[in-house]
Amino acid sequence: MTEQSFAGLPATSIRDLKEHDGQRVLVQGWLYNMRSKGKLHFLMVRDGTGIVQAVMFKGNVDEAVFEQAKGLTQESSIRVLGTVKLDERAPGGVELGVDEMHIVHQAGEYPISPKEHGAHFLLERRHLWLRSKKQSAIMRIRDEAIRAIRDFFHERGFFCVDSPMFTPAACEGTTTLFELDYFDEQKAYLTQSGQLYGEASAMALGKIYVFGPTFRAEKSKTRRHLTEFWMVEPEAAYYDLDDVMTLAEDFVSHIVRRVLENRRAELDDLERDVSKLEPAANAPFPRITYDEAVKLLHENGHEDFPYGEDFGAPHETAIGAAYDRPVMVHRWPADIKAFYMKRDPENDKLALGVDMIASEGYGEIIGGAQREDDLEALETRIAEHELPAESFEWFTDLRRYGSVPHGGFGLGLERTLAWICGVEHLRECIPFPRMLHRIYP
Ligand code: 4AD
Ligand code: MG
Repeated sequence: MTEQSFAGLPATSIRDLKEHDGQRVLVQGWLYNMRSKGKLHFLMVRDGTGIVQAVMFKGNVDEAVFEQAKGLTQESSIRVLGTVKLDERAPGGVELGVDEMHIVHQAGEYPISPKEHGAHFLLERRHLWLRSKKQSAIMRIRDEAIRAIRDFFHERGFFCVDSPMFTPAACEGTTTLFELDYFDEQKAYLTQSGQLYGEASAMALGKIYVFGPTFRAEKSKTRRHLTEFWMVEPEAAYYDLDDVMTLAEDFVSHIVRRVLENRRAELDDLERDVSKLEPAANAPFPRITYDEAVKLLHENGHEDFPYGEDFGAPHETAIGAAYDRPVMVHRWPADIKAFYMKRDPENDKLALGVDMIASEGYGEIIGGAQREDDLEALETRIAEHELPAESFEWFTDLRRYGSVPHGGFGLGLERTLAWICGVEHLRECIPFPRMLHRIYP
């Protein structure tokens, strides 16, 4: 791929250097790292697509250039011109033999060095931390996942219909709502989920997905929670719970497959053990009921887990550890699930909800359900949950005019990425994380 040019030569992305063996190319980027040995400078140059070792031999460049290179600081922006040489031992499989270099900007002393820094130090400098090898690898995997998500739905005839960010009511309980003043005397809330609007859109278009940021005032500090995160939420008319689960496993295996196919180098940069990820590239995934999951917990070191409660992080970890790929837990006690879930016709105490739990301790990545499509039942639930009926008039209309069985789910993008990338904390999976006590930079 070529974009800009300099000195008559088009720029080549480091990612594409392999296709230019023996050719003279221009690389435009930043100095990641450097070491020198006698008449050689080894410049590690990054351009956002990868890192290449550029070898500058004293005899191949102007003397002044060789001297200039000595004083280069980390993150100085440079243009290097030279010849590509395939070399299996070099990082990325290629090396650049430099014959010309131009300094675009000599960077000031860079605050982030290759040595270890604490999380607080790095988060305060997220705008710079993003340049590091692992962080930029995560961002390229995020980009790949987003493309895979959109391709998956478009290939299956789902329309993208986005939901509003300002909403008059809660979707996922009132404890995590961000409230704000919406002009005169009206309160608004930042959306916790686009689902309710997704349901309306599915009644208009059949199969849709919502993809955007969602907000939750999570007041606990955990590695699995952000206050702003991205959710992708398919919703489809005439889908029952089984259809929802089949869609979910096809979807997640598709994302994993695409990342494994196109982002191997990045997974290597992250030192991800891909053998642990590979089973998830293939659907189907195991499906167990909530009752079976509780039994599994009781038999695996959590004998005191009380039936009827929601799973905490240690419980999700134990359930996930029982399988080599994500597992779907369905048919939950209705009391601990959202107002909109349909009850199991076989057992009124159960809701037709499903959570997908990732392996390796990453916990829940998907929450979904078949929706309550009966007007009277839905109105009863709204009252039971003490939700303001006026704000849900429009939502109950969907059960007045051509109600159909339907369902969908929400996948948390950053949770999914943390698992795929094998990084411990969600905050590294979004460019600029928002958490309790963190809104800078
Ligand atoms: O399980 P949740 O709350 O489900 C819903 O919001 C449904 N309305 C979705 C739907 O059916 N359309 O959230 C869905 C997913 C979770 O499984 C998790 O992956 C992610 O969103 N999630 C979070 N990710 C990061 N930080 C948080 N605070 C999150 N809360 C939920
Ligand atoms: Mg959930």
